This record gives sequence, structure tokens and C-alpha cells, in this order.
Amino acid sequence: MYKSHNSKVITRKKNLIKILRRELPGHIFRNIRMIGQLADEEGFSAYIVGGFVRDMLLGRANLDLDIVIEGDLFRLIDLLAKKVNVSVVRHRGFGTATAIFADGFKIDFATARKESYSHPAALPGISFGSIEDDLSRRDFTINTLALQINKHNFGRLLDLFAGADDLLQGVVRVLHNASFIDDPTRIFRAIRFEQRFDFNIEKNTERLIRAALKQNMLRQLSKFRIGDEIILILKEDEPVKSLLRINKVCGSLKFIHPAIKFDKALVGQLKSAYRIIQTFQKTYTDKPLDSWLVYLSILLSALGSDSTDKICRRFCLVKKDIKKINTLKNRAKEVARALSKDINLSYVQVYKMLKPFSYEGLAVILSMTESPLAKRRINLFIKKLSKIKITLSGQDLKKLNLKPGPGYRKILEETLRAKISGKLNSKSDELRFVKERFK
Ligand code: CTP
Repeated sequence: MYKSHNSKVITRKKNLIKILRRELPGHIFRNIRMIGQLADEEGFSAYIVGGFVRDMLLGRANLDLDIVIEGDLFRLIDLLAKKVNVSVVRHRGFGTATAIFADGFKIDFATARKESYSHPAALPGISFGSIEDDLSRRDFTINTLALQINKHNFGRLLDLFAGADDLLQGVVRVLHNASFIDDPTRIFRAIRFEQRFDFNIEKNTERLIRAALKQNMLRQLSKFRIGDEIILILKEDEPVKSLLRINKVCGSLKFIHPAIKFDKALVGQLKSAYRIIQTFQKTYTDKPLDSWLVYLSILLSALGSDSTDKICRRFCLVKKDIKKINTLKNRAKEVARALSKDINLSYVQVYKMLKPFSYEGLAVILSMTESPLAKRRINLFIKKLSKIKITLSGQDLKKLNLKPGPGYRKILEETLRAKISGKLNSKSDELRFVKERFK
């Protein structure tokens, strides 16, 4: 065993059965063995490939299992479905399938494939091939590692491109010189892996990136594919590092939208968002936060409403997320200013101001202000005000002989505000309030 440059465990051993047994929960390990044996019965070779093997060697938890089969995948999947309780999704046209075990654990399968690009930056054409073909079509050496799972070679590391060495050295390296021309999204992937693992893009690989950029390869990509890659970057733990690196390599982030100025102020806000996200995740553990949406809202903050809408649709965001971004666009600045400047705001006013924003939106507003008063108010809203509930229901209003209809919402909202302002402590207080106010 060695320690790599970033002090993760890496091995030069050719058989990784022990590490595999240690990394995988027992029942998954047994299922993998069983899949290997089913492949044996049919004379197929079977391998775990890609990210799982890379991360296993880096000592990073990853249970995204991808298995490549040299042979008739669907025959193997049928055998698997007969043997254990799995539900299976088959994509015959693509030669892929997903098996979902009774406990929800998922394994993705693919037939070993060969790839060809009809023209630069096109989506690749696929035909079936050997495991060597399959690994040769991949982006970086560190992603080409495969672990055989057939019985006689169980745990054998297949390392055709010295990927284990590159993991050890902390290097992101392409397999061939046309890699970024074939697929310019790999420019973003190279930076994402480099920054995630604290690696370095190897010299020739970086030269190839610059050459591809010179040839305007990013222009050949659809906004959807660019969006996909940017969102993957924003989902990383520390996306600002990758954005800085992309900005340096590409010269700007204008390929996302010409109005984005990646200047000191924007970087400062993104860094501040990073700290806020960390705090949110530690403090409010029960509330999941889409951190990528926080960063994306900040990146798009210089764009007008129309451009924002257009780019969100081109990035194929769902309506709910587009709405979160637009609400911020329309009101965040004004709210941040009021929260920091207006010292006389009541709890109800703070509540009314912050209620329209999503949880991610609140993180963005926090990143816009340095004011301790505004920060206190936003945290008070998250911790306390947003959690206040009334006990009164529509049924109670009916019993008070109030006419059912849209008016109920208004009554309940007003009761809630009275409770937020501290006037109501019990259900009878709430009933009294409604009787007096809405007689
Ligand atoms: N791949 C590629 N070129 C791309 C995208 C993917 O060659 N543009 C290959 C990579 O070799 C990768 C495999 O397809 O190992 C699966 O892709 P993905 O799931 O994105 O890779 P992971 O390595 O699992 O990435 P992550 O750790 O971010 O999940």
C-alpha cells in the first residue's frame, strides 16, 4: 500500500479483493460475487468499472456501481432476475440496464461498447465491443480502471492506461490527443476531477484543452450540455475553486452567458455562499439544501429576467427551480437592503418579507449582505418564525359559523401573523382572536 500525494490509500496490488470486501457492505459484496458467477455460467467476462474503482483506490466512499459485461447483457439480466428479487429496467437500444434490489440498492449494467464520433462535439455513435474498447473510449486514465468479478479472476485490477499510477501521482490525463475535440464537455470534467481530488491536469492534457478552446470547441456544444456540466460542477463540495479554474483556462464565463462578469465581487459572493452553505448544512441538518441552485442564482444575478428565463430553460431546469431563481431576481436586493437598514421591522414584517423565498433563496440573500442585523433576522426567520404554526383549522372556522370559501385562507393567515407577533399563546387565544376580528 502507498499513500498518494493527497494522502489517500492507493495500492499497486493487482488483486483488490480485500479492499473490495472492506469497501462494500456484505450483502452487496455477495451480490457482486453472484453476478460474476452468473457471467461465468454464460462464458461472459464481467467488470466493475469507472468511478467506483477510482474512488475505492482513493479511499473515498462511493456506492455507484457500474458493471460492464462482455457478452449478452440481457441474457445475464434475465438470469439475475430469476435468481434474486430485483426489478429491472432494460434499455435494449443502448445495451444498458439497471437492476434495483429489494432493499433499493441499484447497479447499472452496460454491454462493453465501442464509440465513434461522426463529427467533433457530436454525441457518440455506439457499437458493441470488448472491455478494452470500452475502456479506450473513456475520458481520463483515472476513469479507465476496471475490476474483474468473474470467479477465477475476482478482484483482478485491469489497468490498461496506467490509471493507478496517475491516481498515485494525482494527475488528470486524457487517453489520446483528440479527446477534447471529440467531446469538449471533457474540458469541464477535467477541471471538476482536478479540483475535487486536489489533483493536477497533466501538462499535455492542459495544452490540449487550450488548443480545443482556441478552436472554439465550446461553441459547438448545446447550452443544454454546457448547463449539465456547469450544474455538475456546482454540485461539488467546493465549486468556486472549479469556477476560478474554468475562468482562468477559458478567459471568462461568457460561454454561459455574455452578461456574466466573473469579477471580484461575484467571486466574493460565491465564497460567502460557500460558507453559508456549510453553516446551513451543519446547523439545519433536517433541511436538505440544493446548494447548486444557490450558486447558480448568484452566477445569473447580473442577467435580466428574460435572459435568466431563457438560460434556465436552455439548461432544462424544472419549473420549481426556475421560480426560485426568478423570485430572487425580482425581490432579493430590496429585501436584503430593508433587512439591514430598517431597524424598526416587526417580526411579522420580517416574516412577510422572507416568506416568498425558498430555503436556497434565503442563503442567497445572506450572501448579499454584510449586515449583522440582516443576518440575525434571516436566521431568526429560519430557526423560529418560519416554524410557527397555528392550531386553528378550517373545521374550527366552520364551527364558528364563518362562511367557507377563499376568505378562510385570509383569516388563517392573519391569525398566524398575530401568533408570530406574540399575541396568541393557545388555541383558545386563536379562537378569541378570530371571533373578535372577523365577527
Ligand atoms: N465519460 C467519458 N466522457 C464523458 C462522460 C463520461 O468518457 N463526457 C466516461 C468516464 O470515463 C466515466 C464514465 O463515462 O468514468 C461514467 O461517467 P460519469 O458517471 O459521469 O463518471 P463518474 O466517474 O462516475 O463521475 P462522478 O464521480 O462525478 O459520478
